[in-house]
Amino acid sequence: MKEKINKAFNERFSGAGTLYVAPGRFNLIGEHTDYNGGFVFPGAIDKLMMAEIRPNGTDKVRAYSFDLDDYAEFGLNEADAPTQSWARYIFGVCREVLKRGGKVEGFDTAFAGNVPLGAGLSSSAALESCFANAINDIFNDNSIDKFELARIGQSTEHNYCGVNCGIMDQFASVFGKKDHLMRLDCRSMEFEYFPFKPEGYKLVLVDSVVKHELADSPYNKRRASCERVAKRLGIETLRDATMEMLDAIKTDITAEDYFRAKFVIEEKERVLAVCDALVAGDYDTVGRCMYETHHGLSKDYEVSCEELDYLNDIAKECGVTGSRIMGGGFGGCTVNLVKDELYEPFIATVKEKFKARYGHEPKIYPVVVSDGARIYENQ
Ligand code: GLA
Repeated sequence: MKEKINKAFNERFSGAGTLYVAPGRFNLIGEHTDYNGGFVFPGAIDKLMMAEIRPNGTDKVRAYSFDLDDYAEFGLNEADAPTQSWARYIFGVCREVLKRGGKVEGFDTAFAGNVPLGAGLSSSAALESCFANAINDIFNDNSIDKFELARIGQSTEHNYCGVNCGIMDQFASVFGKKDHLMRLDCRSMEFEYFPFKPEGYKLVLVDSVVKHELADSPYNKRRASCERVAKRLGIETLRDATMEMLDAIKTDITAEDYFRAKFVIEEKERVLAVCDALVAGDYDTVGRCMYETHHGLSKDYEVSCEELDYLNDIAKECGVTGSRIMGGGFGGCTVNLVKDELYEPFIATVKEKFKARYGHEPKIYPVVVSDGARIYENQ
């Protein structure tokens, strides 16, 4: 990847800039809890976005996407927003830095990535974190703190890409640490690193390679349901809700909102249970919670799809310890906790069965928990 970016940069802009990388993320448990003030438990993965960047002495950004073979040039004022959606991520990051009083000047960049798009591994957060970190280093003497870098990425999604996401993806991409998961309290923003090297188990992502683009932005709709219920309960977020509180207003809210909130309330407890179980080496409990999360995401939160439910069923049949849909939903991957001795048979079976039903094999990505956004130093 480095060589192709260097070459593309040199051909377009001549010479060389500095290379920055930022990873995608996976999440062990704690889905759709971040924007509800709950807990998440992600880690950065070994799939990255990489950008070569050099100030160009103008007030324009000139950007080349290697993977899309597309070029964009834009100014740094609000009115200069580019039309290409990939370029809006970079533009948004620049604007969000400027809005916070940071400095951004014109630069040239060529970038590429190996975070699969649409797989629920946060390629967009990786791109945002890569540029936020680079702009912090190049123009701001690294004076912007890391949480603010994550918020810059999140605000980019809100204000320039139309997704009202929580903070998990950008947080994980910025703060990731090799061999560690991070439990983040999305209300207080306190977090803790948990060493993660499961003995006798492997973690693997099985990518359905389907992405169901549903009309009406279903992610934003889920968030709106949660906010409605919280408002009805007179609390800021569902973090403070219990099942008793929810049951007490059951007849005043729609069945749909009830089930959305029920999932969130249950999921927030599961994150804590999984953290304790992990520390105790109790992988059966970790796995059971993962299956419960899948069930909740599929039946109550309704962000699964036929293909992902099928992947989950196959995992169960193969005796996989834990399996669930991961990320925002509507396609993408399941994350699976598999005993070493079951790994090969599981992978063979899931490929065969999925292909027999859907005509293509799922993609398999073993999880390698890696470092967060950084300058690239020939690792
Ligand atoms: C997407 C969002 C995150 C989070 C997850 C679901 O990845 O970007 O903020 O809400 O979905 O857990």
